[in-house]
Amino acid sequence: MPAARQTFDLVIAANRLPVDQVTTLDGQIEWRRSPGGLVTAMESVMRGRDGAWVGWAGEPGAPPEPFGEGDIHLHPVGLSAADVRDYYEGFSNDTLWPIYHDVIVPATFHREWWTSYQSVNQRFAEAVAEIAAEQATVWVHDYQLQLVPAMLRRLRPDVRIGWFDHIPFPPVELFAQLPWRGQLLEGLLGADFLGFQRQADARNFVRACSQLLKAQTRGDLVQVEGTQRQARASAVPISVDFKGLEALAKQPEVIARAREIRASLGDPRVLMLGVDRLDYTKGIRHRLKAYEELLVERQIGPPEVTLVQVATPSRERVAAYRNLRSEVEQTVGRINGELGQIGSPAVHYLHHSYPREEMAALFLAADVMLVTPLRDGMNLVAKEYVACRHDLGGALVLSEFTGAWHELHQAFACNPHDIEGLKQAILRAINTPAKDKQRIMRSLRRRVSDHDVQRWAARYLAALAAAPEPPLREETRR
Ligand code: ADP
Ligand code: G6P
Repeated sequence: MPAARQTFDLVIAANRLPVDQVTTLDGQIEWRRSPGGLVTAMESVMRGRDGAWVGWAGEPGAPPEPFGEGDIHLHPVGLSAADVRDYYEGFSNDTLWPIYHDVIVPATFHREWWTSYQSVNQRFAEAVAEIAAEQATVWVHDYQLQLVPAMLRRLRPDVRIGWFDHIPFPPVELFAQLPWRGQLLEGLLGADFLGFQRQADARNFVRACSQLLKAQTRGDLVQVEGTQRQARASAVPISVDFKGLEALAKQPEVIARAREIRASLGDPRVLMLGVDRLDYTKGIRHRLKAYEELLVERQIGPPEVTLVQVATPSRERVAAYRNLRSEVEQTVGRINGELGQIGSPAVHYLHHSYPREEMAALFLAADVMLVTPLRDGMNLVAKEYVACRHDLGGALVLSEFTGAWHELHQAFACNPHDIEGLKQAILRAINTPAKDKQRIMRSLRRRVSDHDVQRWAARYLAALAAAPEPPLREETRR
């Protein structure tokens, strides 16, 4: 008789595992930390919980066998090269991602991509169904897996199902463009509880159910057609491991490294920093434009002021990302060519991923942190910066179009579309007296410390445990 499969009371499903398998040029297999905020947050949540994580190992082909990473059980789901092209790069990142981020670039619709999205979601649902214990809690993550909740419910009606949206949920006017809008909503309504970054995202979802499915809704509840069930949709904004980051940034080696970074840049009076996946949602072009104009106008300039832009490689086979990369690299080249000096480039551009210690040192070294997305579900970088500034130094310039801005109002707010306004926000962040900046940083830190990632996970899991709700009784408000 085959050995019984191990089952788990807590199973999470996300497109990516926390580590990516990378085959090096000489054929060796290495495991590297996966990119993005979802992994950062969920890795700290899953530590010490004895749960399982179902996800893709980051390379096309047969999946590796399940394995342990510390105390997390990893269960890889395989994606073929065609799945990567159609489900991941295609439907997830060239159809859904643009629609969910204000159509900053146009969305592409292909019926084959949708077919692939359905079959990969089914595979994830089956993988979860196989390892979830009786009445387990299953927590599904993000836009790549929106059909999993309903698929899983069909396979395993006994489990409790939650879904969390790490990115914005679009207004119904944009969501309605999707030819498969009804199926996506029905897929999500398989969940007992749906969590969003902002109340506005949850409202957009409820409104889409009401308008496009004609579902009965009341407040944050949606009646699921043909059942006695209803799903709840509300905001539970994600956060960072405040204590862990603070402790990291207090390590003497990290503090020394921060000093070394500043020294190697020629000890500028003002070191500005941008840290993003190289994504068109992050407003990197707008940031560079504002910076370039400030240099041209001689409001600031090297060697007193310099900008370090760290841009993690991302989704490099999707055309919009390739175009962004070449545009950013050309702009950096032009700014340095025209405005840099020997030994003092105006922009230090780094297209790499770094270990956590190096990121903490960069945060600690930076006088001004530039977070200027055109749209971002949360933006954990903003909260990480704040968590690392135990010295109360630094200033955060923060776009109003991030989820983080809804919690970090005291930051130097900007609308990145308004280049003049962005320039003023940068100048304010540089010139505000140190005492006032310390006061601001103290209150930003209090907010992030009180609402850290562990509290987020506890709130989410409590809301999921309280679901499902009894059926709606009162009159429906549409
Ligand atoms: P997104 O999830 O869209 O990439 P977030 O700001 O929410 O944006 O999360 C990004 C995460 O990736 C953060 O934890 C950040 O520290 C990390 N990160 C970003 N750039 C790098 C890099 N170059 N090296 C290592 N980690 C990075
Ligand atoms: C964002 C998304 C995640 C995604 C990450 C990295 O944080 O919300 O779901 O994993 O970006 O993107 P990638 O396509 O490399 O997984």
